This record gives sequence, structure tokens and C-alpha cells, in this order.
Amino acid sequence: MTAQKLRVAVYPGSFDPVTNGHLDLINRCAPLVDRLIVAVLRNAGKQPLFTAEERVEMLRSATAGMANVEVDCFDGLLVEYARRRGASLLLRGIRAISDYEYELQMALMNRRLAPEIETVFMMAGEAYSFLSSRLVKEVIALGGDVSGLVPPQVEAKLKERLPVRPPSGETSGCTSV
Ligand code: PNS
Repeated sequence: MTAQKLRVAVYPGSFDPVTNGHLDLINRCAPLVDRLIVAVLRNAGKQPLFTAEERVEMLRSATAGMANVEVDCFDGLLVEYARRRGASLLLRGIRAISDYEYELQMALMNRRLAPEIETVFMMAGEAYSFLSSRLVKEVIALGGDVSGLVPPQVEAKLKERLPVRPPSGETSGCTSV
């Protein structure tokens, strides 16, 4: 009997922080593969709000209990990381047509670099098709409600890190709320 090759997928991203949209994708992909590695990019060009360790920790607590899901962080080329981890699939979520161009560029570049690794796209759950980590941070910083969009422990961390900014006081021509 020949040993069957395990199907390993890497789901890379900034996850700054993880949202319920990411978790929805993880939940739907995990049953399709033997192992799903959620890989947090350590040094994104953009300055993240949370350190890689904090982002990993939030993801680990949100995915605890999912037996075939692992959370890790990586640096450098994604495809090199995927090769090191024995992955044959890269998972990315698509929310709207506006995501497509960026995702296509990345998928084609990654295919050129590593033709043996396939990028697989999953549609974001419709309830999360408008959701992004960037918008969640903006809403929190302005005192808006993000419950149901991120796990409760992530919401608490966001509130700690991003105290509500008071209106600037500059009122000429604006209505301060
Ligand atoms: O959540 P994001 O910020 O959209 O994720 C982007 C990510 C991490 C998938 C992308 O920036 C990436 O893969 N970075 C690693 C560097 C790399 O391999 N670059 C070439 C890929 S085209």
C-alpha cells in the first residue's frame, strides 16, 4: 500500500487583525484539506497595528478546537514558505470584483515562481463581503460598533489599542458627532 500524500494548504495574509470573514473562510476550507496552515506575514510593508505574535495569538485562540488548522508566521517569499511546509495549495478569499486584479497578479506571480503550487480562491461569505481588517480598525477608532464582525477577544484588543479619537474640535463647515 502506498502512503497517500497529505493535502496541505497555506492561507497567507496580514490578519491585522483576524476578522469573522477570515474565520468563515478557514471554517469552509479546513474540511477540504488534510492540513490548513494559516500563515501570518511578519513584515508587511505596511505598518501593522498588532505584532506578528499578537496576530498569531488572536488567530490561535479563534481557531482553537479546529484539529487540522495550524497558525504560524512567515517572512520572505510565500511560495518558499509553502514549499518548506510541504503545501500544494495557497488559499485566498475573494470578496468583490475589486479584489480580483490584485489576487490575479499575486496568483500568476506565485505560479511563475512555483508552478507546482496551485492558488485556490474561495468566495467570502456574503455576510462578510464588505468586511476588511482596515475598515474594522477605522470604525473602532471612531467609536463604531464592530460586534459580529470580529471575535469578542479581538474586539476587546482593538478597543485597548485604538482608544476612540475625540472629534478634532475643528467645526468650521463640519458637523461634529
Ligand atoms: O492580507 P494581505 O495583506 O492581502 O496578504 C498579502 C500576502 C501576505 C498574501 C502577500 O503580501 C504575500 O504573499 N507576501 C509575501 C511576499 C511574497 O511572496 N511576495 C510575492 C507574492 S506575489
